[in-house]
Amino acid sequence: MNRLNFIELKELSFGYTSNKTIIKRLNLKISKDEVTSIVGSNGSGKTTLGKLMMGILKPTIGGVYILDEDVSQMSLALVGSKIGYLFQNPEKHFFTNTLEEELGFILKFKDVNELSIQQQIDELIEIFELNHLRKSSPLLLSQGEKQRLAIATILINKPEYLILDEPTTGLDIERKRELLNQLNQLREEGIGMTVISHDQFIIEELSQRVIKIHRGEIIDDQRN
Ligand SMILES: Nc1ncnc2c1ncn2[C@@H]1O[C@H](COP(=O)(O)OP(=O)(O)OP(=O)(O)O)[C@@H](O)[C@H]1O
Ligand SMILES: [Mg+2]
Repeated sequence: MNRLNFIELKELSFGYTSNKTIIKRLNLKISKDEVTSIVGSNGSGKTTLGKLMMGILKPTIGGVYILDEDVSQMSLALVGSKIGYLFQNPEKHFFTNTLEEELGFILKFKDVNELSIQQQIDELIEIFELNHLRKSSPLLLSQGEKQRLAIATILINKPEYLILDEPTTGLDIERKRELLNQLNQLREEGIGMTVISHDQFIIEELSQRVIKIHRGEIIDDQRN
């Protein structure tokens, strides 16, 4: 099968400090037409890798390329317009007073009219069952509600690719199933995704390729 490489890592190395390398000379091509899961034990470097892919962290050696373009040459805003990134801690997404404001915030900077903004907010609030919480403070939501809101705030930006770091944290099995349905729906609409997860349910149900990392190196790469 001829797969289009959406993200490519070339000899990627990274350390938070000069005496400890966290990501070790990774080479990887990630296609948009299959869901890729990244798995591995705590501290193996998954979140670090996700942040490198987004250009939030800068490699010490090597590079990250999105559709052949060097991420280090792209602004975070430009990367963010192509890739939606879910932080492992959903609270990192929130900075307004109400859930409605949170969802509308990014659209205010785009050339989108008020009615259209409201329609998009309403649609996502409906999908993610957050209607009763419209006026609530994002920081006071339950863990599962925070997770759903964080994903909704990413989707409002209409990214073509998603990197989700532990998207099912704090979700009960019913909510996991719902999230799975929503992610599958996005797949059908052509949105690609990489999912960093410990959650066997979501890995098995969602992904076609599973990459395992250990101490910053790829130790397994399998397609279902
Ligand atoms: N800001 C930081 N400064 C220094 N070291 C860090 C920092 N963030 C992470 N690390 C270290 O980098 C290593 C990889 O961390 P990372 O968060 O990428 O792991 P992970 O695979 O996502 O783990 P988890 O499954 O617990 O989320 C760990 O040893 C961690 O202590
Ligand atoms: Mg992590």
